[in-house]
Amino acid sequence: MSRTALVTGGTRGIGAAISTALKAAGYKVAANYAGNDEKAKAFEAETGIRTFKWDVSSYPACAEGIAKVEAELGPVEILVNNAGITRDAMFHKMTPDQWNEVINTNLTGVFNMTHPVWSGMRDRNFGRVITISSINGQKGQMGQANYSAAKAGDLGITKALAQEGAAKGITVNAICPGYIGTEMVRAIPEKVLNERIIPQIPVGRLGEPEEIARIVVFLASDDAGFITGSTISANGGQFFV
Ligand code: CAA
Repeated sequence: MSRTALVTGGTRGIGAAISTALKAAGYKVAANYAGNDEKAKAFEAETGIRTFKWDVSSYPACAEGIAKVEAELGPVEILVNNAGITRDAMFHKMTPDQWNEVINTNLTGVFNMTHPVWSGMRDRNFGRVITISSINGQKGQMGQANYSAAKAGDLGITKALAQEGAAKGITVNAICPGYIGTEMVRAIPEKVLNERIIPQIPVGRLGEPEEIARIVVFLASDDAGFITGSTISANGGQFFV
């Protein structure tokens, strides 16, 4: 029987590519989303992937949402923590709200989603937790003190949980995409994107969401059982760890 995968932020951007690629690879897929009903409806109609609405920054909402997914599709064996937001501002202009929203979604959201599925993965002696961090969690980014901190935190929780999960058949890995051609990146002021960011990418282009999705499909597979605690960079040569 095919395994069930849950992708947060799974109806748009990189998440939509991940949901679609996992479905094509034979998984039962649930795509979580937080706000955009119209886009989620269209995504469900187009792909046949079930969508579920809740906010990953709320632990009770995650526990309730995961219970709904499991009642419909079976236990979550593959969790992809992809949901993320930006509230970019230079630090001297950053508000506490901008800090908290990003930390609550991009870092605490990973705790909120992983904690409710962890015991089941331990009991079944199998699990895959794949968290989408960012190049900016590795190198830091001006205008993104909040986002860089949250995404660096995602690498920390990944390495800690990899050690806890190893004896229970659970692998825990992170992917650090560079600048990928999604709405999030297109929201950067055009001048900054074209004059400051793209010239820093040696391959000379933004990445494609599918280039991240293919890594997820590999990490989810049985073939990747010896890979845990890893950070896989996919950034067109912009930054080497
Ligand atoms: N790389 C290099 N230089 C940058 C930069 C970047 N990412 N972001 C801003 N700068 C530069 C600007 O070019 C500008 O330089 P000049 O004064 O020499 O022209 C200077 O920093 C100040 O920028 P702004 O004039 O735009 O200042 P602002 O206060 O109006 O806006 C900002 C600041 C909101 C941070 C805006 O610059 C911005 O949105 N920058 C992009 C930040 C960024 O890279 N975000 C990544 C989003 S995508 C993502 O997060 C996905 C992922 O994981 C990679």
